[in-house]
Amino acid sequence: MAEEKVDRVKIFDTTLRDGEQSPGASLNPSEKLEIARQLKKLNVDVIEAGFPISSQGDFEAVREIARQVKGPTIAGLARSRRQDIERCAEAIEPADSGRIHVFIATSDVHVEQKLEKTKQEVLEMAVEAVEIARQFCDDVEFSPEDAARTRPDFLKKIVEAVIDAGASTVNIPDTVGYAVPGEFGNTIRSLREEVPNIDRAVISVHCHNDLGLGVANSLAAVEAGARQVECAVNGIGERAGNAALEEIVMALKTRRDYFNLDVDIETTEIARTSRLVSSLTGISIQRNKAIVGDNAFAHEAGIHQHGVLKERQTYEIMRAEDVGLTDSQLVLGKHSGRHAFRQRLEELGYELDKEGFKRAFKRFKELGDKKKEIYDEDLEVIVEEEVARIPTVYELEYVHILSGNTVYPSATVEVSVKGEKLRNSSSGDGPVDAIYSAIASLLDVEPVLNDYSIRSVTRGMDALGEVTVDLSIDGLSVHGRATSTDVLEASARAYLDALNRARYRQQSGGDREVMDTV
Ligand code: KIV
Ligand code: ZN
Repeated sequence: MAEEKVDRVKIFDTTLRDGEQSPGASLNPSEKLEIARQLKKLNVDVIEAGFPISSQGDFEAVREIARQVKGPTIAGLARSRRQDIERCAEAIEPADSGRIHVFIATSDVHVEQKLEKTKQEVLEMAVEAVEIARQFCDDVEFSPEDAARTRPDFLKKIVEAVIDAGASTVNIPDTVGYAVPGEFGNTIRSLREEVPNIDRAVISVHCHNDLGLGVANSLAAVEAGARQVECAVNGIGERAGNAALEEIVMALKTRRDYFNLDVDIETTEIARTSRLVSSLTGISIQRNKAIVGDNAFAHEAGIHQHGVLKERQTYEIMRAEDVGLTDSQLVLGKHSGRHAFRQRLEELGYELDKEGFKRAFKRFKELGDKKKEIYDEDLEVIVEEEVARIPTVYELEYVHILSGNTVYPSATVEVSVKGEKLRNSSSGDGPVDAIYSAIASLLDVEPVLNDYSIRSVTRGMDALGEVTVDLSIDGLSVHGRATSTDVLEASARAYLDALNRARYRQQSGGDREVMDTV
């Protein structure tokens, strides 16, 4: 009997572009590079590294990723304008395999109200954009933004025209998460059946999650013939986010009997990628989040535990090991030396330069003094903090807190600012409030604290506590993050981390320009 041909679904990761557009999630170029390296380990097909025209920082991040991350195709986003496309082409130029992703909106409301154009003008702009992009790159993707609310006839017409102009991938976005699965599947099916040249392009989908249907819509599209899915790690992205990469991948893998499709993802890297994205963006993962939430593989109810112990398939459809959730090993201790530290980092897949290694080893030793047992998760935290570090202006020298249920909390902090040590004290509603008001008046800043969260990153009584803060300052929204075995120290460091990021963004021009969308 002839062997059955199995198709493959390409995974296009947009964590660094659409994901990074999540409010407060902005990443600096070295953090983007670190995530891109991890996405390569995950073996995604395409990394959408950014939107090069949107800021100098994004341009540099895309270019650096194109230069350093080999294997996946590196894509950059561009509006249907020559200037955008040329900037994007320049950013992806060092890639072995680069892609220019151009888009323009096609739904009535976008065409008439936002672009103030006619459909014919939009069609001509789309074709011209693809033709310009093809002058720089053989691999061009086109997206009719808000495709799910675009009139079907116009959608077919523009898809046919951009394929004729040279687009080899046509991506159908549900930009506002409006579609429902049966309907969205039918849209893809009718493009396959009715666009005459559709076999010259890969159909891709890009589903937002406003109604919680991003993954369901993507899978319905795959069933109808889409062969690329755009998604983001932990489902981050504009508003309610994008379809979650880990859910798409594990659904296709776990229900291969149903879809009969391959994906080339190294699923054992999922957990690590998820943790890295969460800690660098400051967006935490809900406990019951599918695949990567803390409870995803926990069996609390007695009846479930009993079943799982007898036969794991009773209540488990996936194995925790398959997504990289192995029991973390106790790896190192206070007396472990440089060699053991380096070896374990290499086993975990980290490549650190000399400076990065020096900083990480110093942190490891400091941690060893406070914490008896050091696990892989501790090492991941150290590496993430030390490798992707931005230049810092404010460093915490010390923090002293007076607090309790019978005293009014007060804090004294000493911060070094470019080497000069400054000290201040303040009181507050609680110890964290006291620390933050001491720092704010010391540095003469008035940030608004939008969010503060704390969680334990590792296990045991002496676990590392991670504090994440979200601040608004001078029109910028920034997050800050720090870990320590002392959560008040971590609180102070996280606040200073956010202030350092705000300064860095103001000075490096790394902030996105507010752009018109024509
Ligand atoms: O949601 C959307 O429409 C997009 C496009 C630029 C692909 O992000
Ligand atoms: Zn999007």
